[in-house]
Amino acid sequence: MKRFPLMPSIFILILSILLGYAIIRSQTVRAAAPLPQQNQDLVRGARLYDDWTEVIELASPPSGDQPIWSRQSTNTRRGPDTWRCVSCHGWDYQGKDGAYRSGANYTGFPGIYEARLKSAADLSAAIGGGIDSQHDFSGFLVPADIAALANFIQEGLIDDNEFIDPVSLKIIGGDAAHGKELYEQGCASCHGPNGQQIEFRYEGQDIVLGTLANQDPWRLLHRTRFGTARAPEMTIGFDLGWTPQDGRDLLLYMQTFPTGLAPTSEPSMAQLTPGPAEQPGGPARNVFSGILTGLGAMATSLGFAVVVGITLVAVIFLVVWLLRGRSK
Ligand code: HEC
Ligand code: HEC
Repeated sequence: MKRFPLMPSIFILILSILLGYAIIRSQTVRAAAPLPQQNQDLVRGARLYDDWTEVIELASPPSGDQPIWSRQSTNTRRGPDTWRCVSCHGWDYQGKDGAYRSGANYTGFPGIYEARLKSAADLSAAIGGGIDSQHDFSGFLVPADIAALANFIQEGLIDDNEFIDPVSLKIIGGDAAHGKELYEQGCASCHGPNGQQIEFRYEGQDIVLGTLANQDPWRLLHRTRFGTARAPEMTIGFDLGWTPQDGRDLLLYMQTFPTGLAPTSEPSMAQLTPGPAEQPGGPARNVFSGILTGLGAMATSLGFAVVVGITLVAVIFLVVWLLRGRSK
């Protein structure tokens, strides 16, 4: 009679472990579920706009400069960069009328912000060389990608220029406390409390979030909202349902970050953690992380099988115990 409460409590314990495991598992699956197709299209369009030569798998990358590039001589970039939409039309989508109105990025080429009001057919025609034969990207981009670009132009463009001081590049207005909240929820886990944990390339240099926030707020806004081909695992404002003002609030907060790299006397977190390929659950970046991801998935299912097995054994024990109790 002494054992009586013991067996059922073990059984209930095992049951609750199993239930907890099942709930956690179902939530992981839900978080990884794909977003609606149209949203994915817009995000893909935004990343193609940023650098389609990195987003798609090219049979043969574009050689030399984009033919239109030679119509100007102020911007001295050469090669693949000259094929990127953003090099001519700008991170603020306003070309010669926006952030690229002067400086090393000046080309004199127009923006596409006004073109957001055009039909998808007109936009696709322009991108496919139908209006200017030198503006023909259809040799590289499949129709679905041209459509994604048109979709992005129609629905994704945001004009932030009246909120960015043209001289100091600081955000005008805005709510830094709200920005801090957003940063801590979605970004700090990877970028660290002051944005110094991840370094990335900018104009031939290794920089951190604080540097970009103060030097190129437009690129930061575009990539914060739509991500970058180089970090597909990154949380993005678009998926979190951010308003344009949410992006600016976050930028205002990031403009307070240190603009230099973390001090190197002690190894920084960025040096200790080998990099984005280590993100659990992130897409496989190379053969080795692919194999690791596969092994991880197998281990997960193995764990699940073990839990199911233990539960079965527990149930059998309970039944045997009940039967024995009766026969006595
Ligand atoms: C080398 C510079 C350059 C690159 C790269 C470039 N464009 Fe253009 N784009 C122009 C110029 C210049 C025009 C103005 C019309 C013309 O002369 O072709 C234009 C026009 C357009 C238009 C029509 C705008 C309107 O008002 O009707 C769209 C849309 C457009 N570009 C989208 C894109 C997209 C998307 C990409 C990337 C796949 C891209 N462009 C890459 C230079 C460029
Ligand atoms: C899962 C980890 C992860 C999270 C979460 C994350 N990022 Fe990133 N982010 C990265 C990595 C990795 C890079 C570096 C990519 C590279 O090497 O170019 C990066 C780069 C960036 C860049 C620089 C892009 C450029 O080259 O101009 C910006 C801006 C950025 N992140 C903003 C954010 C913001 C804002 C958030 C929060 C909403 C966020 N990130 C959340 C991993 C993350």
